[in-house]
Parts: sequence; C-alpha cells; structure tokens
Amino acid sequence: SQNVTKDDAGVLQVGGVRVDEVAATYGTPTYVVDESDLRARARAFADAFDGWDVYYAGKAFLCTAVARWVTEEGLKLDVCTGGELAVALRAGVDPADIGLHGNNKSVPEIRQALEVGVGKIIVDSFEEIDRISALASELGVTARVMVRVTAGVEAHTHEYIATAHEDQKFGLSITEGDAFEAVRRVLADPAFELAGLHSHIGSQIFDTAGFEVAAHRVLALHERIAVELGHVCPEMDLGGGYGMAYTTQDDPATPARLAEGLRTIVERECRAAGLAVPRLSIEPGRAIAGPSTFTLYEVGTTKEVALDGGATRRYVAVDGGMSDNIRTALYDADYSCTLASRRSDAEPVLSRVVGKHCEAGDIVVKDEFLPGDVAPGDLLAVPGTGAYCRSLASTYNHVPRAAVVAVRDGEARLIVRRETTDDLLRLDVG
Ligand code: LLP
Repeated sequence: SQNVTKDDAGVLQVGGVRVDEVAATYGTPTYVVDESDLRARARAFADAFDGWDVYYAGKAFLCTAVARWVTEEGLKLDVCTGGELAVALRAGVDPADIGLHGNNKSVPEIRQALEVGVGKIIVDSFEEIDRISALASELGVTARVMVRVTAGVEAHTHEYIATAHEDQKFGLSITEGDAFEAVRRVLADPAFELAGLHSHIGSQIFDTAGFEVAAHRVLALHERIAVELGHVCPEMDLGGGYGMAYTTQDDPATPARLAEGLRTIVERECRAAGLAVPRLSIEPGRAIAGPSTFTLYEVGTTKEVALDGGATRRYVAVDGGMSDNIRTALYDADYSCTLASRRSDAEPVLSRVVGKHCEAGDIVVKDEFLPGDVAPGDLLAVPGTGAYCRSLASTYNHVPRAAVVAVRDGEARLIVRRETTDDLLRLDVG
C-alpha cells in the first residue's frame, strides 16, 4: 500500500491505523487491506482505460466490501463460479455488469447466470455451447456470450498461471481452428448473441509485448469472422494478468502504459482492416488488489539452523503460514517482511519466515534480513498479500481462515470475520 508508515517507536501504521491496535482488536493473522489504496488502483485502471470496460477479476480477492468498492470506482466484475456470483449479487452489483468465466461451469451455474441476466458468459468449450443453448432455450432468454480463444502466446510467468499456450485447459485454439468453429456454431444458433472474442494469456506478466501479440492474433480472428461469417463482433476482451511488484526488483507497467500499448495496436489493425474498433475490455485482478494488503502475523517461536559453510539461518515461525498464503509453496513466490510492532537496532540476520503447519514447505518468506532480536510476541507484516492469498486460503491442519480488516481514514473495520474452530466443527457431521 502507498499509505504505510512507521512511527518513531517503529510501529507500522496504515490508513492512519496502528497495527498493534489491529492485532489487539482482531487478533492475528489478519489481512489488513488499505481501502483507499485498492480504490485508487481500481480508479487508475478505469481512468487509463477510459472508454473501455474494466472488469475486476474477483478471483484475486472477493468479498462484498471489495465488490462494492470496485464498482463504486467505475469497474465491472468478472466472476468464475456460482460462489463468486453469489458474493457479487449480495453486494448489489448490477448483473448486467458481471461476466461469468469458467472452463467447467455447472448447469446450475449457467442457469443462475441466465436467470439473473449476467452481462456476458465467456464460453470455453464446445460442450458448453450446447449446454448454454439448451438452458437459454428452456428459459426463453438469449445468452450473451464471448468465445474464449487461445492466442498461442508463451507468457513469461510461472507455468501454472500461463494460459495462452496450446497445452493447457482454457480456451479454444485459434491455430487449430476450434475458435473459428465455436464462433460459427454460436452465430448459427438463435439462443446466442455473440458479443465477441476473449483472450487471457496468464498472470503476473511484466512484458507488455505478450499482450500485444495476443491482441494481434485475436484481431486477426475478429477480422476473419467479419469477412467469412459476416459478423462484426461489437466487443473484445483482452483479459487480465498485469504484474504487480512483490519485491523491489519488480517493475510493473502502469495502467496508462498498458492502455497506450493495447489501444495503439487495436486501432492500427482495425484501421488496416477497415473495421470499426470494437468496445474493449480487460480483467485485472492482482494489480488492483495485491498491493493494497499486508498480512499481520505474531511471532511464536524462533530457531537457529546451521547452513553448509558455517553460516546460520534464523527460522521465525508465525501464527499462520501456507493456509493463509500458499503462493510461496505453490509458485515459489518472493515476499518480503518487516518487524511491525517496535523499533529494533539489533543487527539484521538472514531469516526465513515460516508458518505453523505440519510440513517443511510451509514457508511464507524465503529470505529476509530481520533484526536479530525478533522474538515471540513481535508482529511481522508481509506486504503484497491482497491477491490470491485469502482467496486461495485453506483450513489445512484445521487452522481457521484469517480475518480481513479494512483500514481507512484512521478507522479499522472488519470485512471478513475470522473463521472459528466451531465453524469447522459444524461441517463435521459424521
Ligand atoms: N481473467 C481471467 C480469465 C483469468 O483467468 C484471470 C486469472 C484474470 C482475469 C486475472 O488475472 P490477474 O490480473 O489477477 O493476474 N493463483 C495465481 C493466479 C491465478 C490467476 C488465474 N486467472 C497466483 O496466485 O499467482
């Protein structure tokens, strides 16, 4: 977050709220989200992509408060399950401003989307075309859809989160002709209204060239559809995936630079083809939610471990771990960490912040120089945990999921309450 400071006593403050007070009131671990920062990032995308539709990708982190904030800042909402759709509807988001994704949407999910009238469903397979067609006919509605295509771009990111190369589960291949065939079937079926094509190449991407290559290939298909099928798609979605800084080495593009690059290529190619520029949209998640939040932990134990060559590493164990942030274990992600509850003049030592779960891979921050006197009861803050941390949280080892607290103008407010052991026991009905 932009609004983090440390006072003279070394206590971290965000949005005018002291973190020791957050810990005293709400406990730890807690995700502390700076509402003004998240809103400002949402607004920055809306402003930079003026005239486009910006859908916030709810998978990054969704709760009713966040759904309201982003829509108040002028964004629409991308959901990819019935659960995310339920949050959006509870938050009062206009269904017309919702896009439904998913490579394996269930019949009840599609039915609900059609019943409430979501703005668009992003179609991901041939079976789904038949499924939506049957349901739309049964309900007597027209399904407004986009066809998700695979642009064949090798995005430079972790293999698990790249989605536009051919050998992965999302989208219909442009090069194999599946995308064109899907469009043909949609256009031939009166149950559908085809809004356009959709492409998403992956996540945590820094190189804007990948987005531009994808846009180029999707536009070529857009033109082919106009020429061969006589349908000029009114819209086009270029997906999300814009990287955020986890460490000081990361240098993400600003929304303004992204907008400029994408706008230029779309306008150039449409002009060359003699086609009107379609209404464009994007779906950023991480770049909006990620930087707004840090996780506040309390230290419980510490341990010195000898490394080869005589050096030592200090293991600092906190009261959460891979259940509230799986990204280090799953994607080898890099995080940093700071002592948040006091000042220390102790010599910094190489430390590894680990959790309380029963496995050695339960690492939150691989390497950080923390003051050598960090001790039980100290609070640590791990920044950049607003995206894909609470949303990927588990209850591994029956550890209840952490609370989310929003801070703004000197006030802290609980927006997602902490799970309790009773919540977990209630599910156990054997
Ligand atoms: N649109 C679609 C169709 C997506 O699949 C995604 C992310 C987004 C938009 C938003 O991407 P973003 O702007 O947030 O990068 N759990 C992984 C990330 C998975 C991304 C899934 N799809 C992680 O923690 O890195």
